[in-house]
Order: sequence, then C-alpha cells, then structure tokens
Amino acid sequence: MQTMPGLDELFERRQTYPDFDPQERLARLVGLDDQKSRLAKILGLLVNPHGLERWAERFHAAEARPLLDVVLRRPPLVILAGDVGSGKTELAETIGDAVARQEGIELTLFPLSLATRGQGRVGEMTQLLTAAFEHSVQAATRLKCSGKAKGGIILLIDEADALAQSREAAQMHHEDRAGVNAFIRGIDRLANLRLPAAVIMCTNRLNALDPAVRRRAADIMAFTRPNDEQRTHILSLRLGPLGVSRSHVQALVDATGPTRGAPGFTFSDLAQRLLPAIALDAYPDRAVKGPRALEIAKAMTATPAFRDEATGDAK
Ligand SMILES: Nc1ncnc2c1ncn2[C@@H]1O[C@H](COP(=O)(O)OP(=O)(O)OP(=O)(O)O)[C@@H](O)[C@H]1O
Ligand SMILES: [Mg+2]
Repeated sequence: MQTMPGLDELFERRQTYPDFDPQERLARLVGLDDQKSRLAKILGLLVNPHGLERWAERFHAAEARPLLDVVLRRPPLVILAGDVGSGKTELAETIGDAVARQEGIELTLFPLSLATRGQGRVGEMTQLLTAAFEHSVQAATRLKCSGKAKGGIILLIDEADALAQSREAAQMHHEDRAGVNAFIRGIDRLANLRLPAAVIMCTNRLNALDPAVRRRAADIMAFTRPNDEQRTHILSLRLGPLGVSRSHVQALVDATGPTRGAPGFTFSDLAQRLLPAIALDAYPDRAVKGPRALEIAKAMTATPAFRDEATGDAK
C-alpha cells in the first residue's frame, strides 16, 4: 500500500489568517461584495455555530430552532464557479482573513490544486483527495471545542474541473469517478463530525458539475466578467491618478467591453495584461497617455470564453 502524502508535501503554501497580505488582496477585489459577505457568513458559522444561536435568541427566541437546524446541518461545501480570471482563486485564498477577524480566531488554509497535481499515476487524484480530507479532519478535530472552536480549517480544492465532470458523462474514466467519490466521502465526513472546517471548491465548469457534489453545496456562487461599472472602477483607479482623462477612461471601458459575438475583458485581462502593457509601453522614457493606452487596448483581445458544457469534454 502507498503511504499517504504528508502535510508539507500536499499543501505547500499553507496560509494562516489574520495576515496583512491576504487582507490587502481581499480589499483589492472589485465587485465581489455579495460573494464576500455570503462566503464570510458561511465560513464564520462553521467555526462558530453559536453566532447563529445568539442571533436567534435576540430576534426570535425558541421559535427559530427548526430553522437553525437546517442552516447548521448544511454540508460544509461552497462552490465558486465561473469564467476564467474572475477572482475565484483570489477570493478563496483571502476570505479566511475576513472570517478570522470577524470571529476573533485563527484560521488556516490548506490549498490543493487539482490542475497541477494528481494528473500522474492512475489513482493519484483519489489518493490526494483522500489525504487532503484526512489531514483536514485531523487538524480540525484538534480545534473543535464544545463552544466556539479554537480555530478553523479551510480546505481549498482549486481548479477542480476534472472532479466536476459529471459521473454520468460517458467518457469519464473509472479513475475520475473514484475521485468524485473520494470527494463526496470527505465532505460527508466533515459534515457528520461537525468539525470547524469548510471546503471551498473552484471550477470553471458549473454545468458539468457532478449532481452529487452539487447537491451538497451550501452555496454555489457565480463569477462573471466585469461589467462597465467594474471596468470603470479598475481602470480609473489605476489610470486616473496618472492624468488619463475621464473620456479616455470611458473609451478604454468601451474598448474592453463585450462586442457582438465576443466577450469583454476578464478581471485578469485588465489587471495582468492590459494595465501592465500600458505601463511597460511608456517605460522608461515616456509618461502614460490616454490615446496610446487606447491603442494598446484595441490591439489586445480578451481571453476567449470558457466553454462550459455538460458533456464533460474539457480536454
Ligand atoms: N474581482 C476582481 N477584482 C480585481 N481584480 C481581480 C478580480 N478578479 C480577478 N482579479 C485579478 O485577476 C487575477 C486572477 O484572478 P483569479 O486567479 O482569482 O481568477 P480565477 O477566477 O481563479 O480564474 P481561473 O478560473 O482561470 O483559475 C487576480 O490575481 C487579480 O489580479
Ligand atoms: Mg483560479
């Protein structure tokens, strides 16, 4: 039998909260206030279920008991689904900071990406998932208390597209099915033990999500490309202070928006491609100018839309 991968091997970049870096990164995310607040509440209740009881006592007394049960019995899974470069990973990696501050306890993130891992030997994805849940259960068990937990664990299963493929999809291999089953077993185990632990799963392929995984999600949050207002916010915040006029920012917003048949720029197209290209074009001996910035934007194309089909053909 193979030995289980160790904690350090499995989660190279463990993160504890509160911490300044995730706090800043979380604050920089635009247009995700609804997702932020829903996610923070769900995670907050997993580490501190008594918060909900206190709320009920204050507003509803004993009548709220049946309602509390259904809220607290939800499996500890949240799915962040949507287009590429829309902030799923960024939010998943930083939301722990808001929860840690809100609840006044320390949280730890165990991040596991299924894109970079688990593509090797047959059985590897299943083994990784089983090990990831095992480590999470062990860590969360140590943090569990009769009242408020001593801390909390967030297990992040990122780039979970392979796992999201429906068990019903004809082309799904036996190995993939075993991975889905390991995931479901892990979620159920965390839920039954009532541990201060939550799982965040990120995927581009909501439509191909396995029905059994989907059914367990306490919430499924959709992520989309930035609308006009959000693009205005990002662009004017970065370019306004450099002297780029409002009308040029508006022209940039139009140039980066959807056109007939093609989607608009993603958040990451703006933050990681367009804005750096504008800066590096002017560097080292010119200032950034609106008309030139617009030329650069027009010459650039948005990342193609992710084709999310239920047939399970992601390869
Ligand atoms: N809502 C946002 N506001 C500001 N910047 C954003 C936002 N979303 C994404 N970005 C920028 O885009 C980068 C990529 O985002 P992220 O890695 O979270 O995308 P993703 O949704 O996980 O995409 P993928 O599906 O390709 O993994 C971030 O580092 C950030 O700079
Ligand atoms: Mg991502």
